[in-house]
Amino acid sequence: MNCFNYKKSELYAENVPVKKIVEAAGSPVYIYSHDTLVNHYKAYEEAFDGYPNVICFALKANSNPAILRLLAKSGSGADVVSGGELFFALKAGIPAKKIVYAGVGKTEKEIAYALKSGILMFNIESSDELTAIDRIAGKLGVKAPIALRVNPDINASTHPYISTGLKKHKFGIPIHEAVEYYTLADKLRNIKVIGIHKHIGSQITRITPFVDALKKVLALAQELKSRGIEIKYLDMGGGLGIPYNMEEDLPQPKDLAKAILPLIKLHDFTLIIEPGRSIVGNAGMLVTKVLYLKKHHKKEFVIVDAGMNDLIRPSLYDAYHHIQHVAKNNRPLALVDVVGPICESGDFFAKGRKINAPRAGDLLAVMSAGAYGFSMSSNYNGRPRVAEVLVKGNKFFVIRERETYKDLIKETKMPEFLK
Ligand code: LLP
Repeated sequence: MNCFNYKKSELYAENVPVKKIVEAAGSPVYIYSHDTLVNHYKAYEEAFDGYPNVICFALKANSNPAILRLLAKSGSGADVVSGGELFFALKAGIPAKKIVYAGVGKTEKEIAYALKSGILMFNIESSDELTAIDRIAGKLGVKAPIALRVNPDINASTHPYISTGLKKHKFGIPIHEAVEYYTLADKLRNIKVIGIHKHIGSQITRITPFVDALKKVLALAQELKSRGIEIKYLDMGGGLGIPYNMEEDLPQPKDLAKAILPLIKLHDFTLIIEPGRSIVGNAGMLVTKVLYLKKHHKKEFVIVDAGMNDLIRPSLYDAYHHIQHVAKNNRPLALVDVVGPICESGDFFAKGRKINAPRAGDLLAVMSAGAYGFSMSSNYNGRPRVAEVLVKGNKFFVIRERETYKDLIKETKMPEFLK
């Protein structure tokens, strides 16, 4: 369920007109719906109810502290990939015992921080990392709880940049070598093997790849058991896709659960899931103002005040984001490119899009921007990062102030000789 709807011809976020938010917080601005976030989280909770589980929200999708606090209060755990994300998760009040830590390049400092915090487990990606964690845990006098991330060689049929489960990808350990790695891990003094982890990619729009990957992982768990290595946590990663174009009807958490739970119900695991996009993606939009219109070579450009630095998905993945007017109108349809102000030809939100002819001053809503939107934003072209607003019922709250020009240089230093 999504709480961005038109009332008459005005776009609302829950019960607040989007226009009113822009008047208060400026443009561009990310707007999130509280109820949509909670509903999306609950959809996972309800779907997997009845089987022991930990839902670990993938912070990389969105790590605004208010959103994390909201999810923490709903009972969410966290999937983190850096010391910074671990810090965000703990600050938001997510219990360490609900935090899993993935990523191919964990540093010594990050590993020590996670060990001292007492996280649920490390999802380990290589034998070098395994021995590093063993060494650091030894130094700290603790045992590191771990899972190995296995690469099941499953095609997730998604964009190549966000597919991770094939042999050629840098992620995980080839599943046919996993027994060898587990045997090594089991012998290490400061390592405690507790789980298996897999994540095959993101924006996966069919259930079959999840089932195929899980079957391979279950066979591995069985094999390990016969060798005396007991797996308690089965971490199946994230990756469930969301509709970017409003008409798609995609599998929901309950469909995923329906396909997966029968396969594991006779086993004594705790299931971990790491959804990111499917919780926050359609709970957020990026609102931007039309600055100018420009026509050349029969092409029409709508130049808006947001750029690829604010939302990079169209530029990076050629991703489709639905764009709609904040105030609906009956103007004739125009075929336009919606582009930003950045000095790159790749700075666009839509190409050849049919939309009621925009005019300068119009507000446009770039939908499904809650995941990998703000979290991938940057200051490129000297652009302060935008504000974020959370709407709850008929109230709205600024949950991140727009950066100022001063913010852009606050960490820089001038060498004496240049002063
Ligand atoms: N777990 C692991 C280990 C991951 O690497 C990821 C995402 C997730 C969970 C969450 O996946 P989700 O449920 O959000 O699909 N920037 C790209 C997506 C990159 C995903 C990276 N890993 C995009 O904008 O499409």
